[in-house]
Amino acid sequence: MSQPPLFRPPVKILLQILGAVVFACAAVGIVYFSRMIFQNGILLSLAASAALLIPIHFALTTLAHRIIVKSPAGHDSLRNFNRRLITILDIAKLSSFVTVHIKKICDASSSAFILRDENAPQFRVCAAEGIHHVKGRTLAAGGLASWFGTHQNSVMRRSRRFSRRAAAIRTDMDMLSAELCVPLCIGGRLIGILTVGKRHDRRPYTRSQMMFLHALSDEIAIAASNARSYNDLTRTYFETIESFASAIEAKDAYTRGHSDRVTAISLAIAQTLKLSQEHVDTLSYASMLHDIGKISIDGTVLNKPSSLTSDEMSIVRKHPAVGESIIAPIAFLSKARHVVRHHHERWDGKGYPDGIAGERIPLLSRIITVADAFDAITSSRPYRRARTHKEAQHEIIQHRGTQFDPVIVDALMKVPEQQLTTGN
Ligand SMILES: [Fe+2]
Repeated sequence: MSQPPLFRPPVKILLQILGAVVFACAAVGIVYFSRMIFQNGILLSLAASAALLIPIHFALTTLAHRIIVKSPAGHDSLRNFNRRLITILDIAKLSSFVTVHIKKICDASSSAFILRDENAPQFRVCAAEGIHHVKGRTLAAGGLASWFGTHQNSVMRRSRRFSRRAAAIRTDMDMLSAELCVPLCIGGRLIGILTVGKRHDRRPYTRSQMMFLHALSDEIAIAASNARSYNDLTRTYFETIESFASAIEAKDAYTRGHSDRVTAISLAIAQTLKLSQEHVDTLSYASMLHDIGKISIDGTVLNKPSSLTSDEMSIVRKHPAVGESIIAPIAFLSKARHVVRHHHERWDGKGYPDGIAGERIPLLSRIITVADAFDAITSSRPYRRARTHKEAQHEIIQHRGTQFDPVIVDALMKVPEQQLTTGN
C-alpha cells in the first residue's frame, strides 16, 4: 500500500512558489526520515536545489522551443538526444548519432561532426548528414580549427563579421555547407567542431539559438571525450589479453596460435547462436585466455611428447582453476573468470574441475569446450598428425550429448568452412 506524502517543503525562488517536492517512504524509513527533516533540514536543502534547477530547466526548454519552432520531430529528437547521448561509447556511432539528431533538432538542411585526430593535430570530418563526400576530409590549415583554437565563440555565416573572417574559414564552411559552427571543448582544449547548415524555414539562426547549440556542444564534447577514453581503455584491455595469451603459447610449442583459433571458432559459433554483444565480448576475452592457467605448468610437462603420468595429469587438470584465480583480480574480466574455470567440464558431468553437468556449465564455457576440441583435433601433435575439418566434425558429433552440449555441436556444424579456418 502506498504511503501518504511525508513532507512537502515548498519550492521557492525570489518569493515565487513554483511547485512542491513530495517525498513518500516505506514505513520502516519513517523514523529515519523524520530525524533527517527536523534535525538536519536535508529535505529543505533538496527543495532549495530543485528551486534553482527548475528555472534553468525552463530557460533551456524555452531556448529549445525557439530552435524547434513548428517542429514536433525536432522536439522528440531533443528528448531522445539528451537521453541517449551519454550512453554511446563507440565514437563512430556517437558521431553519426550527433549529426542525425542535431540536424533534426535545429531543423537544418545539414550537419557535420568533426574531431581532432588522436595522434595528429588535424581535424577530420567523422560524420555528416545532408552533405555528400565530406566524411574523412580534413579541415584547411588556418581555417575553423585555427579560429576555435584561440577564440571559443561560434562562427555564423550571416553575421556582419563573417566577410572579415579568413578565407580558410570560409573554405571550411563552404565544404561543410555550414551556416553555424560551434567548438567542442574540454577544459578549454578544442577537441572538435559541430556545424549545422541552413534552416529549412530559411531564417537565420538567432543569438539564443546559437547559445543553445553552444550549451549542447558542451554535453557533446564530454560524450565524445568519454567515448574516446573508453575506446582507448578497450584497446589496452585487448593488448593486455593478447600479451597474456602469447605468454602461454611461449611455454607450449604445440599450441602456438591455439588461443587465436579457439577465439575465432568460438565467435563463429556465437554468431550462429545470435548471442548478444555483451556475451560476444565476454566470450572473446575468455576464449583468448582459456588456457592462461597453463602458465603455472612446467614446460617439460606441457611439451612432453609421450603420455602424461597420473601426477602430471593432475597438475594439468588444475589449469582451469589456476586460470580463474589469475584473472579474478581484474575487474573487466569478472564475467570471463567463470567461463575460464569451466572450459573443461563435460555435458555429462564427467569433466573437471567441478564435474558440473548440462546447463549448470556456463553457456560460453560450453562453446569454448567445443571450439577447443575442434582446434586440438585439427592441429598436429608430436604423437599424431593433424586431422581434417571433416574428421574433426565427425569426432565431435560422436560425443554430442556426452562430452559436448548438443546445441553447441549443432551450431558448430552450421559454421561456414571459411570461418573454421580463420586464425590458422
Ligand atoms: Fe584448457
